[in-house]
Amino acid sequence: MNPIFERQSVRKFLEKDVSETQIENLLKAGMQAPSACNQQAWEFIVVDSDEDKMAISQMHKFAKPAADASKIIIVLGNLNEAKISSMIEQDLGACCENILLQATYEGLGAVWLGFHPIEDRCMKIRKYFDIPDYCIPFAVICVGYPAIDNGVKLRYDESKVRYGGY
Ligand SMILES: Cc1cc2nc3c(=O)[nH]c(=O)nc-3n(C[C@H](O)[C@H](O)[C@H](O)COP(=O)(O)O)c2cc1C
Repeated sequence: MNPIFERQSVRKFLEKDVSETQIENLLKAGMQAPSACNQQAWEFIVVDSDEDKMAISQMHKFAKPAADASKIIIVLGNLNEAKISSMIEQDLGACCENILLQATYEGLGAVWLGFHPIEDRCMKIRKYFDIPDYCIPFAVICVGYPAIDNGVKLRYDESKVRYGGY
């Protein structure tokens, strides 16, 4: 199985717990991502209380999958740790994608919920989890065992590719 081509967003989860070891594997995958100057300025909050998951699910209208996820990983960027802060979003994007791919590899389902740079969403999650000003609440990744397989459509589109120049 190639997780790149199997990955899909999963928004409905079974009532089955994802173990701490599995979450650790996802975090290891996230921290294995490339980053500018190898700055690795990411940090994570792992959420598994029902109350906290419900609170996240109400933070914006596309956040509902959080309610029945087994565990949630909040991906943060620590600006105090960054050497090139202007590149931190790219690092964090790579980190999130690694987490999603590892979830697929482990037979889990996951969905990335967008927070940064939407101010209202960031404010809510910052306040709820006491996230300091120097940390960007970049994204929320809901993880669980998939309840639905939506199938994957391959997206390769040769019309988007140019060779040798625009
Ligand atoms: C930056 C970003 C923000 C996203 N935000 C949400 C979100 O808030 N809620 C959600 O259900 N899916 C969200 N997604 C998932 C996308 O909707 C999904 O990746 C896209 O529809 C393609 O489907 P696929 O992941 O199954 O390939 C987000 C994905 C990215 C990369």
